[in-house]
Amino acid sequence: MRLAVTGASGQISLALQQLSGPECAVLVLARPQFDLAEAGNAEALLRQMRPDVVVNAGAYTAVDLAEQDAARCEAVNAVGPGRLAAACAQMDIPILQISTDYVFDGTKTVPYEEEDAPSPLNVYGASKWRGERVVAAANPRHVILRTSWVYSPGGRNFVTTMLRLARTQNSVDVVADQFGCPTSAQDLAQAIMRVSAQVASGTAGQQAFGLFHLAGSGDTSWAGLAQAVFDHRRLRSGCATPMVRAIRADQHAAKAARPKNSRLRCDRFQRVFGFSLPHWSLSLQACLDSLTDDAAPTGQAP
Ligand SMILES: NC(=O)c1ccc[n+]([C@@H]2O[C@H](COP(=O)([O-])OP(=O)(O)OC[C@H]3O[C@@H](n4cnc5c(N)ncnc54)[C@H](OP(=O)(O)O)[C@@H]3O)[C@@H](O)[C@H]2O)c1
Repeated sequence: MRLAVTGASGQISLALQQLSGPECAVLVLARPQFDLAEAGNAEALLRQMRPDVVVNAGAYTAVDLAEQDAARCEAVNAVGPGRLAAACAQMDIPILQISTDYVFDGTKTVPYEEEDAPSPLNVYGASKWRGERVVAAANPRHVILRTSWVYSPGGRNFVTTMLRLARTQNSVDVVADQFGCPTSAQDLAQAIMRVSAQVASGTAGQQAFGLFHLAGSGDTSWAGLAQAVFDHRRLRSGCATPMVRAIRADQHAAKAARPKNSRLRCDRFQRVFGFSLPHWSLSLQACLDSLTDDAAPTGQAP
């Protein structure tokens, strides 16, 4: 199988590239040759690459910056993916579009299902929701995977930020009234590989196409996730770790509003593809274990 993935250094893109091997070659469709903000050359590039499946893992992901950069965010997250999906449709290639829990406003008190109506609170979420719709309209062979709270050992994300703060801070203020499902980029990449194989071979049939939620099992708050990172660091290396001071979202200065509840119910994915992602705490442990730096008993927090 040949899989083309957008984005070069993105968390999900990199995790997919790490899985590239004889059974599945992962080809990179990235800047400067391919810019999602334009995507006018998508068909020409796809004709050269001849992928069996295209994964659009590239996106404008700076949630706060997007509030002042709506036009670019829209171009990268909606217009470009629409063009890419149309190019795929021309060549009868299925497209996997990665989307986000931030399409929801968080007012629901239980996990969100695919049937729930999106109502994004911020520019990023709105652009990603439009991206879902343009991709679906452009290519009937689409798999839209909404995921959430993605982290990886190397990427810029909440987990690596907490590890950095652990080296210098005595205490860290973390939002405790927003709840979601932390998701490992490595788990997602393995799932994307399995889905791509099923879609490319046709084993999952027509039901493989459509909208799915896919996130780590279980849920927590940002404060819960921070505490889990610090607990792991303390147990593993014996370092003193910062105290987590729980704050409300309205006490945290952020340009973009975020949903209080963006937990995703992933039952449809499990039914169709036959598996689910591990509990977030197990995957977090695997991610932290892979960081040798974190294991070293140096860098005592003051
Ligand atoms: N991170 C999360 O917590 C989270 C949560 C839910 C959903 N998602 C979704 O998951 C997907 C991947 O997220 P991530 O965390 O892996 O992203 P990331 O680490 O922030 O990386 C973003 C990727 O997008 C690429 N990109 C940005 N602008 C581009 C452009 N104009 N043309 C081509 N590529 C461009 C970047 O390319 P370069 O490598 O060239 O910089 C980079 O590879 C996105 O669709 C995102 O919306 C993420």
